[in-house]
Amino acid sequence: MASGTQIKRACENGYFSFDEVEPLSPAAKAFFEENGYVILTNFCSTGDTDELRAAASKILSDFHESPSKSASVFTTAEQDQKVLAKYFLDSASAISCFLEEKQLPDSSAPAVNKIGHALHDLDPTFARFSKQKSIQSIASVLALQRPALVQSMYILKNPYIGGEVKSHRDATFVYSVRGHEAPTGACLGFWWALQDATEENGCLWAVPGSHRDKLGLRFEKNAAKNGTIFSGKENVAYDQDQFVPLPMETGDLVLLHGGVVHMSKENQSSKSRHAYSIHLVEERISPECWLEPPAEVPFNVSE
Ligand code: FE2
Repeated sequence: MASGTQIKRACENGYFSFDEVEPLSPAAKAFFEENGYVILTNFCSTGDTDELRAAASKILSDFHESPSKSASVFTTAEQDQKVLAKYFLDSASAISCFLEEKQLPDSSAPAVNKIGHALHDLDPTFARFSKQKSIQSIASVLALQRPALVQSMYILKNPYIGGEVKSHRDATFVYSVRGHEAPTGACLGFWWALQDATEENGCLWAVPGSHRDKLGLRFEKNAAKNGTIFSGKENVAYDQDQFVPLPMETGDLVLLHGGVVHMSKENQSSKSRHAYSIHLVEERISPECWLEPPAEVPFNVSE
C-alpha cells in the first residue's frame, strides 16, 4: 500500500514489488540469498494494515482497562525477577504486553513496547493474516519443507520513547529442532511495516551478507526451566558503518534470514512506528529454545 509519502531510501537495492501471483520472484530470492534480507513493497492492502492496527489497539485498551498483576509488576521499581521470568516464558503461548523501558512523565497509562508472542494462534485477526497463502508460498520458494509458524510480535516503537533494539540475529532467539540446516538458517522472519518506518522513527538496519557468518549465541531456557540464559558468544563484531537502513512504507514486508544481523535505533521522533512480525522454523522449535515447543502442527494455510 502506498502511504502517500515517498520514503527516502539510501539505495533501491533490495526492494521488489510484491506480486500475489509470484510472491518471491527469482530476482528477489537471489537478493535474499546474497544479503540475508529482501523487501517486498506493497505486500499489504490498506484494509490489512488498518485491521491489524485496530486489533492491536483493542488488545492495548483491554490491557490498560484491566491492569493485570503483570502490569503492576512492570511498573514497580523493585521488579520480582521470578515473576518477570515466568511472565516472559508464559508469553510464548499467550498475548502479553511488555512495557517501554522509558515512559513519558505525563502519560496516564504505561506505554507498551510490544505485544507477544502467540498473536498468530490466539487472536483471530492476526491468525488469519499470519496464515495467508502468500506466506506459505514464500516459505515454499525458500525451500522450507515443513514450515512451522512459532512466534509473533506486534511492535509499537512509541513516539519519543520507543526503545532501541540492539544488533542481534533472530536465530539467537528462535531456532528449529533441525538447527541451521534450513536455507533460511534457524528461522525465517517476516516483518511488516504497519506505519511508515523511516530513519527518523526507528526503521530496521541490517548488515548485508552477515547471515553467512556463523551464529555463536543462543537464548535458552535455564536448567531449572524457570528462566532464560544466553549460551555461547557471537564470533564476529560489526561496525556501525556496515549497517544499511531499510526504510519501508506502510504495508511493505521485509524477509529476514535468521542469521542476518539487524537492529533499530530509538524513536526520538513524534511518529510511532508500528510493525508486526512472525517467525517460521523448519519442522518445529527446538526444545532448548525459550519458546515452549508448540503442538507439532506444521504451518497450515487452510486453518
Ligand atoms: Fe530481530
